[in-house]
Amino acid sequence: MNPRVYRMVRHLSTAIVLVFAGITASAQAAGDPANGAALATTCMGCHGIDGYRNGYPSYRVPKLGGQKADYIVIALQAYRAGTRPHPTMRAQAASLSDQDMQDVAAFFASQGEPRTGDAAAGGPGKEKAAVCVACHGEAGISSAAMWPNLAGQHRDYLEQALARYRDKARQDPVMQGQVAALTDEDVRQLAAYFSAQPGLFTTHPKH
Ligand code: HEC
Ligand code: HEC
Repeated sequence: MNPRVYRMVRHLSTAIVLVFAGITASAQAAGDPANGAALATTCMGCHGIDGYRNGYPSYRVPKLGGQKADYIVIALQAYRAGTRPHPTMRAQAASLSDQDMQDVAAFFASQGEPRTGDAAAGGPGKEKAAVCVACHGEAGISSAAMWPNLAGQHRDYLEQALARYRDKARQDPVMQGQVAALTDEDVRQLAAYFSAQPGLFTTHPKH
């Protein structure tokens, strides 16, 4: 490469890296975990109890421990905007400002990294998961802040979420495309595979 062009490219890529570093730093610094802990008191009534179930249809409330903070904010915004159904979560999210969402996400993120350990066999879903791992990671720990970790999430919650993208009640264009061709059996096997992996955990309220 011509040295002038090389220098230009190098400066440009440094600038791009700096811009991205700035975005990441501000995303991390955006939330106040102490205020988030106060706001999360209500949330713990469901998310802080192991295996707590949604009434109807019956499936377990998702684990938030070890989940990506940016994704938690995106999910809360979707409930507030109504692009995700669920009356209780819509009501919960409607009462939160953008800053509250950042704070609550920072609180859940402060509870610890996803659990680590050997990847589990997870049944026949492993092969079907090959198309999912580009975003959600080999064993369900995703590679970007806006993509949720799936590892260790409750199996019935994952099934529920996939079914809702498929019937378009969850209005996310990326996931709607991913699930369009899945059968009920595919959904069960994928949920079984990701839920079997070490990762997410239930965050317990502090006493
Ligand atoms: C009455 C029980 C209940 C309460 C209280 C509650 N949640 Fe939820 N939450 C749920 C259920 C059930 C779901 C799954 C909804 C669905 O199927 O989309 C959920 C989903 C979520 C999700 C999406 C998780 C994911 O993996 O996509 C987030 C984030 C969340 N809740 C955060 C909160 C926060 C923050 C609060 C407190 C401000 C809160 N919840 C209060 C029951 C509850
Ligand atoms: C191109 C990236 C991408 C691919 C590939 C992808 N996903 Fe996703 N996935 C996402 C994003 C982004 C979201 C969050 C969507 C939202 O905001 O509701 C998501 C959400 C989900 C959720 C909901 C998680 C929760 O906590 O509620 C499940 C379950 C899921 N994906 C499973 C899968 C499976 C299974 C596959 C493969 C068949 C797959 N995904 C392929 C990007 C991807």
